[in-house]
Amino acid sequence: MKQYLLGIDLGSSSVKVNLTDAKSGSTIAAAAMPADEMTILCPHPGWAEQDPNTWWEHLKKATHQVLKEAGVPSSSIIAVGISYQMHGLVAVDQHLNVVRPSIIWCDGRAVAIGDQASKDLGESYTLSHLLNSPGNFTLSKLKWVKDNEPERFALIHKVMLPGDYIAMKLTGEVTTTVPGLSEGIMWDFKKQGRADELFRYFDIDPELVADVVPTFSVQGRLTSQAAGELGLAAGTPLCYRAGDQPNNAFSLKALRPGDVATTAGTSGVIYMVTDKPIADRQARVNTFVHVNHEEKVPRLGVLLCVNGTGIMNSWLRKNIASGAMSYEAMNTLAAQIPIGSDQLVVLPFGNGAERMLENRDLGASFHGLNLNRHQPAHLCRAVQEGIVFALGYGFEILRQLGAQSNVIRAGNANMFQSEVFCQTFSQVTGTELQLYDVDGAQGAARGAGLGLGYYADEAQAFQNLTCLRTYTPQQGIKAEMDAAYERWKQMLNKELDNTLSR
Ligand code: XUL
Repeated sequence: MKQYLLGIDLGSSSVKVNLTDAKSGSTIAAAAMPADEMTILCPHPGWAEQDPNTWWEHLKKATHQVLKEAGVPSSSIIAVGISYQMHGLVAVDQHLNVVRPSIIWCDGRAVAIGDQASKDLGESYTLSHLLNSPGNFTLSKLKWVKDNEPERFALIHKVMLPGDYIAMKLTGEVTTTVPGLSEGIMWDFKKQGRADELFRYFDIDPELVADVVPTFSVQGRLTSQAAGELGLAAGTPLCYRAGDQPNNAFSLKALRPGDVATTAGTSGVIYMVTDKPIADRQARVNTFVHVNHEEKVPRLGVLLCVNGTGIMNSWLRKNIASGAMSYEAMNTLAAQIPIGSDQLVVLPFGNGAERMLENRDLGASFHGLNLNRHQPAHLCRAVQEGIVFALGYGFEILRQLGAQSNVIRAGNANMFQSEVFCQTFSQVTGTELQLYDVDGAQGAARGAGLGLGYYADEAQAFQNLTCLRTYTPQQGIKAEMDAAYERWKQMLNKELDNTLSR
């Protein structure tokens, strides 16, 4: 009987499920729910919430669709893996019911809490123990709940990350991982243990945190209730779990120091694998524990995030032609406009506090719009350029911190399906962009195979990972691209000066 692996990717705009044939590593069926993108609730400017129960409902629908399409018996699925949106806070009570909506990664309400913690604890502690500022991450978000919603805080039995919540719904057990603790800024890199000093500082009981399981291992088994709801077999093991960015790197086999991977979903990320405890003084990039980290063989990921990536493009889609245009059509339009979008400049920072800009929330903006000249096609191109320029700007920071690679890998998904986006990315970062036939959900399926021990090693897990296309910087368009990028940087600096003087 053939054996299959099921990968789940809990994103911010959809829940994707992938069924992979374990032996060949090929996708048998895939689904994303909802068909139109999931909303991010914004009950207050700067806040971003989602209801974890909604994630579960979408996961059920996507899993049923995949099973229907594949027509395979549930007993032939040998393991499940999860990739998930990082840094969010999910809090549950004694009965494992959520006590409030999840405060997700791009919610900026805890920025001031993190800033104060950094000041009080001092740079020497935060840089050497946390490799980060407590910033706007999960533990700072929990402190916000403690300070602002004491009745809800009192109900909390356990806190976890979004992927841990899906794991809990699957297995009935509340668990997390070491990379998970690091992404919530709950991990002490120096002590190689929980960051108890930070918990003490916030006066939060560290026992609220879930127990740790290895990233690749049998982390639990599907309860009969979960199996019934999803159409899977009770007892199927959950064997892998990782944040979407380390998972993207894993999916692209970026596992050794120096490897660099990128994604451009709701957010865009460039992620560099290193064995060194790199910390940026201004916390513009963050260092987290990578999926294959071991105490004696350190593997960390230095992560540059632009919150306003696919969400900026999605905003444009919904707001021109009322969402009736496909992304493909937008890409075609973008390709009709010359480099630099006839001087139209877009800053895509409208999705919360941008870490790269020291947690400033600039808002997204269009500059130089000429009402007689600019058409929807210009908007399409300028948005893509603005996003890539933001990623390129961040890559300059990674370069300063030691990124040396001249190759960056990406899955053939989301914004990397646009030619304009890919060529601009290669040009601005000065690297060869390699696109592979994988996405996060399929990567999570492979991770499950590794966690189960079905694959003996990474080489086996990635045996059929294929590079579909590459993009390299072109001398012929260098001058135009440099000029457009320079114009974009000037506009960014102007906006940053404006916010500082406000
Ligand atoms: C990474 C980050 C985002 C989320 C999106 O640090 O905050 O990319 O993981 O899901």
